[in-house]
Amino acid sequence: MDELTPKKIVEALDAHIVGQRNAKRSVAVALRNRYRRSQLSEALREEILPKNILMIGPTGVGKTEIARRLSRLVKAPFIKVEATKFTEVGYVGRDVESIIRDIVDGAVRMVQSEAMARVQSEAKRAARRRILDLLVSAESSRQERYSERSERREMTTVTDEEVSAQQAERQRRREHRRELARKLDAGELDDEMIEMEVEDPSPSMIEVFSGSGVEELGFNMQDMLGNLFPSRRTKKRMPVSEARRILESEEAQKLIDMDQVTREAVERAENDGIIFLDELDKVAGTKGGGSGPDVSREGVQRDILPIVEGTTVMTKHGPVKSDHMLFIAAGAFHTNKPADLIPELQGRFPVRVELDALDQEDLRRILVEPRHSLTDQYHELLQVDGVTLLFTDDGLDAIAEIAEEVNNQTENIGARRLHTIMEKLLQDIAFSAPDDTVPRISVDRHYVEKTLASIVSDRDLSRYIL
Ligand SMILES: Nc1ncnc2c1ncn2[C@@H]1O[C@H](COP(=O)(O)OP(=O)(O)OP(=O)(O)O)[C@@H](O)[C@H]1O
Ligand SMILES: [Mg+2]
Repeated sequence: MDELTPKKIVEALDAHIVGQRNAKRSVAVALRNRYRRSQLSEALREEILPKNILMIGPTGVGKTEIARRLSRLVKAPFIKVEATKFTEVGYVGRDVESIIRDIVDGAVRMVQSEAMARVQSEAKRAARRRILDLLVSAESSRQERYSERSERREMTTVTDEEVSAQQAERQRRREHRRELARKLDAGELDDEMIEMEVEDPSPSMIEVFSGSGVEELGFNMQDMLGNLFPSRRTKKRMPVSEARRILESEEAQKLIDMDQVTREAVERAENDGIIFLDELDKVAGTKGGGSGPDVSREGVQRDILPIVEGTTVMTKHGPVKSDHMLFIAAGAFHTNKPADLIPELQGRFPVRVELDALDQEDLRRILVEPRHSLTDQYHELLQVDGVTLLFTDDGLDAIAEIAEEVNNQTENIGARRLHTIMEKLLQDIAFSAPDDTVPRISVDRHYVEKTLASIVSDRDLSRYIL
């Protein structure tokens, strides 16, 4: 994290998102401030509350995309939720506190997999040992069945010959084990079948009964009752390669201290957690509203409030404080305004950034500039069937022009328009490949206009198709 300076964060976002400089800078600063805070004294740290961000902008200009890319960038616990998913307490739907429970669950998974990675080589060695044991014991039990100790002599005294025979036998076994180990390491035994005890995967009674309805209780029935009914273990035959995978994760589990993992995860969620609250405008009222669905919308806002403000939520990993989690909210706010949110909530999002509507130039850049851009994607897809697409400069201009035009004529859905247009534009090519097609197709202005002109000129038609 100490290397992720605001500038670096913006650069990383630039690889995927065109424009929107202000929004990128705000999230970068908020993120860096987490790090800055972590370097301060305990007393001061407690005082510094995160400056939550509200991203406002028309639909399809990159709000969700910024959050998505940000989450991949930072190794902080991150969760993206739609405000519309929640309902006021007492109504049917998910309760707001589940956000905190989910982000902690995510943090636990994250810390756990880091811990697993640390013990990986040790777990691998232990798993290898257990597989060797299984292989050896499978073989010797087979041998025993054949010879069945035909002599079965009563051994009261042990002669010298017998002692040396035993020694020789032990030596032989050691060598045999070494030989098996060599084969195992070379992967020659991967398809060999062995029998092993595994946890019974069939769902237990508890899982059947504890639906999602009990999640409000803040703990997991499975965890609580799991100890009362120990998991059943059954014998299963499987190839060595699969047994290795299972044993490695079993051994890794044994090597890590889950209590410590949970402690660290809770701490990380509390201090580094980022909650992206999408579609916040959808739970804001509209002017003149105040009846009907608006009542419960305001209720959702009131429920969200304490979490944004800082509260303690009981989770199955213990109590978790949301005071220092960073909230980034987003909304188009085209039929309403941030001022339509309840005042208390407005105050919790002091950093406001507006995202710009995309113009023709932006749209053209979005077609080519982002890593794995739309044109790249279609290029690669058709390459699979031996067709090389060539997007010429004037062809790209034409696509952007049409996108802009349709956005103006019908509804402005931002960059999403490019998806519908590209799909329509390349429909025929995508259908004819690889059967009747030419290996190189130039997508130039002529081709674009020929394919789309009739649809664009007909307003009603483009409303449906593009
Ligand atoms: N500035 C941009 N640069 C690159 N791609 C973009 C940009 N804006 C939007 N896109 C692309 O358009 C699509 C929709 O964007 P996104 O989901 O971020 O919209 P949004 O702003 O969250 O809209 P909504 O308000 O409807 O949720 C995504 O596939 C995204 O890749
Ligand atoms: Mg969105």
